[in-house]
Amino acid sequence: MTEIDLQKLPGHIAIIMDGNGRWAQKHAMGRIAGHKKGAEAVRLTVRACREIGIKVLTLYAFSTENWLRPSGEVKALMRLLEEYLRSEIQEMLENGIRLTTIGDTEVLKKPMKTILKETIAKTAHNLDMTLNLALNYGGRDEIVGAVQDLLNDIRRGTLAEQDVTKDLFSRYLDTAGLPDPDLLIRTSGEYRISNFLLWQSAYTEFYYTDVLWPDFNRDELFRAITEYQRRERRFGLTSDQIHGGRQE
Ligand code: IPE
Ligand code: IPE
Ligand code: MG
Repeated sequence: MTEIDLQKLPGHIAIIMDGNGRWAQKHAMGRIAGHKKGAEAVRLTVRACREIGIKVLTLYAFSTENWLRPSGEVKALMRLLEEYLRSEIQEMLENGIRLTTIGDTEVLKKPMKTILKETIAKTAHNLDMTLNLALNYGGRDEIVGAVQDLLNDIRRGTLAEQDVTKDLFSRYLDTAGLPDPDLLIRTSGEYRISNFLLWQSAYTEFYYTDVLWPDFNRDELFRAITEYQRRERRFGLTSDQIHGGRQE
């Protein structure tokens, strides 16, 4: 087992959970069976994050582009998500986990909206960890929505143009109140961002693995964190500056 330094944990981990379909294909099953197994990997990952003290975990569950998949698959994904929430609420309450979402959940079907609302309300007081689900989420939609809200506030006179800064803009995004992700994991050997957290990942460390999401687990998570801890985050500075070394 890899050693992780509990003093240097990423505060916010974001995951693009990819590869359910290919996992199913590899096991001669239908795509939906892959999503079902993927939900198991979500459980293991949430537990492992909670166990070591990760403060925020954002999971990309459904993108604005995923609506274009075959309708049977979309329905099954929504059903699985609903089942997941119903089955996890107790564990979230017992473990101090708060549920939040990013993305437009208004357009989701009634039963899904109801269970989301209920879980968010019931877990709102939990402080140990935030499980943030990206649901009907797209980074570009999020940015355009923020611009629209901001323009509205300027028009109404509650915001002055000169007060628009990066920090203020961040507060108009769905992730308002959450720190930017420190580590972004993408499974299944794809090297792209797929419209996820475009603004927030400006200085995020990216970690890619060939492991397909349904095979992801505690060990894989710890591997990603270990790799993260080996990196030097420079934020545009020099290595010397980071280490407080000699400077001209
Ligand atoms: C990720 O797995 C799940 C969602 C996007 C909802 P995929 O379904 O994208 O799996 P692949 O990429 O087809 O293998
Ligand atoms: C990204 O995976 C979205 C989610 C994991 C929910 P996709 O499988 O939809 O991404 P692309 O299409 O390969 O870029
Ligand atoms: Mg995919």
